[in-house]
Amino acid sequence: MQTYLALLEELDRRRRGNHLAAYRPYERQAEFHAAGATNRERLFMAGNQLGKTRAGGAEWAMHLTGRYPDWWVGKMFDQPVRLWAAGVTGEGTRDNPQRVLVGPPQQQGEWGTGMIPADAIADTVMGRGAPGALDSVVVRWGGGGDVQAGESVLSFKSYEKGREKWQGETLHGVWFDEEPPLDIYSEGLTRTNATDGITIVTFTPLLGMSDVVLRFLSAGEVERMVKE
Ligand SMILES: Nc1ncnc2c1ncn2[C@@H]1O[C@H](COP(=O)(O)OP(=O)(O)OP(=O)(O)O)[C@@H](O)[C@H]1O
Ligand SMILES: [Mg+2]
Repeated sequence: MQTYLALLEELDRRRRGNHLAAYRPYERQAEFHAAGATNRERLFMAGNQLGKTRAGGAEWAMHLTGRYPDWWVGKMFDQPVRLWAAGVTGEGTRDNPQRVLVGPPQQQGEWGTGMIPADAIADTVMGRGAPGALDSVVVRWGGGGDVQAGESVLSFKSYEKGREKWQGETLHGVWFDEEPPLDIYSEGLTRTNATDGITIVTFTPLLGMSDVVLRFLSAGEVERMVKE
């Protein structure tokens, strides 16, 4: 009986831990993902609660695990990746990208219920900032069919630490959840040059048109927006 209950609990845990397989993008999310096939830099700019963070989390979980769904037409990496996910502050990064990717920050027992499936989390490394905030996650990559298994590494960053903390590592991708200052954005983009990697920016424009946003708009689009 006890084993049976343990088994049921395990099944329930796995089902809850399967958000990645269950992810079905809304139209705007699907467009955002698809654009990754031909663009190194992408911006998902949309109003509140339209699924920006979830879209970023789902795509990051795919690259980290190598588990791309059948319908996927976006960017694909054919090897384990090193990715960053970042927000404005340590708390903001914890409560948005970390929560979506790993699970509720304050409940360690629930880690593995975010977009990165529980069975793919090899290790979690605590940060030294905000309570419950992770420094990084080691993720099992590939291993299906004749693909050799490997390990990806996801690290969490924040803009508040300043550009110096953004130097160094070569990366496959940087996710900016909320708008970064231009110097941080450029530093993140530079980190991905050697791998022909990607940057994604997901946010609601609250501060008007910033220099980062303007990078993504054509002259015609800017003109139209100014007239509106
Ligand atoms: N493709 C989807 N399928 C089902 N639910 C979704 C999907 N995309 C987003 N959601 C749900 O919609 C809600 C808002 O999503 P999310 O937090 O990603 O939005 P956001 O645009 O980042 O919001 P905010 O403006 O607050 O930053 C969440 O509850 C999320 O789980
Ligand atoms: Mg969000």
